[in-house]
Amino acid sequence: MTTGDACSLALVTGASAGICFELAKGLAARGYDIVGVGASDRIDTLPERLPTVSVTPVRVDLSTAAGVEELWERFESLGRPLDVAALNAGKSLGGAFLDTDLDDELHMLALNGTGQVMLAKRVTRLMAAQRHGRILITSSLSALTPTPYESIYGPTRAFMNSFGQGLREELKEYGVSVTVLLPGATATEFHSTAGMGNTKFGSNDWKNDPVLVATKGIDALLAGKNHVVGGDARTVRGALRDRLLPDRVKAARFARSSRPDQ
Ligand SMILES: NC(=O)c1ccc[n+]([C@@H]2O[C@H](COP(=O)([O-])OP(=O)(O)OC[C@H]3O[C@@H](n4cnc5c(N)ncnc54)[C@H](OP(=O)(O)O)[C@@H]3O)[C@@H](O)[C@H]2O)c1
Repeated sequence: MTTGDACSLALVTGASAGICFELAKGLAARGYDIVGVGASDRIDTLPERLPTVSVTPVRVDLSTAAGVEELWERFESLGRPLDVAALNAGKSLGGAFLDTDLDDELHMLALNGTGQVMLAKRVTRLMAAQRHGRILITSSLSALTPTPYESIYGPTRAFMNSFGQGLREELKEYGVSVTVLLPGATATEFHSTAGMGNTKFGSNDWKNDPVLVATKGIDALLAGKNHVVGGDARTVRGALRDRLLPDRVKAARFARSSRPDQ
């Protein structure tokens, strides 16, 4: 399946903003009805922002088991097959590890890691039983480098990258594809929400357009590709280089963009 037909449904987490909203919008443009998930009440505006398809907004906290289960109940109440699942909702936390708050870090681990696994368990079992489906996991180019001053965030993206690649191998015999999206730095609220306004990452002037990142993700998802770098040609070249550079070099370079007041 390359485009949605009259019965196609996509579940998109983080659909109220940023890359995730553009994924929802791009899938809607291809004919998919959307179950869009966000944590704040702005997810309630998603139906009017995507007026051409049927949209079910769901406001839950995906860092908790209760939030994931509530989402799943809402999805099951629709009584429809699930054709696409885009697991994107995530956040970061900037600052020196010596200074950052442990509870904030544990919350990020819950949203970026355990919550994703809980939802993936539901999605993969359903799609395997259906014997069809496409899953997009949004990781990051931060998966390929140490991330000082975002020291817990990068490892959560490395986890999702490796998790996605493993799932891809397991699920292929069920007719289910898994694609990992690796965005470079992208102009959304993401770094501001992470408290990184006083870093180079804090400025959106030089970053990738979220529309481009999402389009690359959707094209790769629908083509059943293994992974795709989300960003422009410069970002793609940087990703190739990062596969070869030693970690100590990448760590020092990353710190120049992530360290507060640089
Ligand atoms: N932007 C970048 O530079 C960049 C680069 C590489 C990878 N990524 C990855 O791309 C993904 C999306 O990033 P983005 O830039 O689009 O972020 P964003 O603009 O900050 O949007 C984050 C989305 O996640 C939702 N969300 C946050 N906490 C949630 C929770 N506890 N439960 C449910 N939903 C929650 C937000 O909903 P509400 O705001 O309504 O709560 C929002 O819709 C993340 O996984 C990130 O790691 C981003």
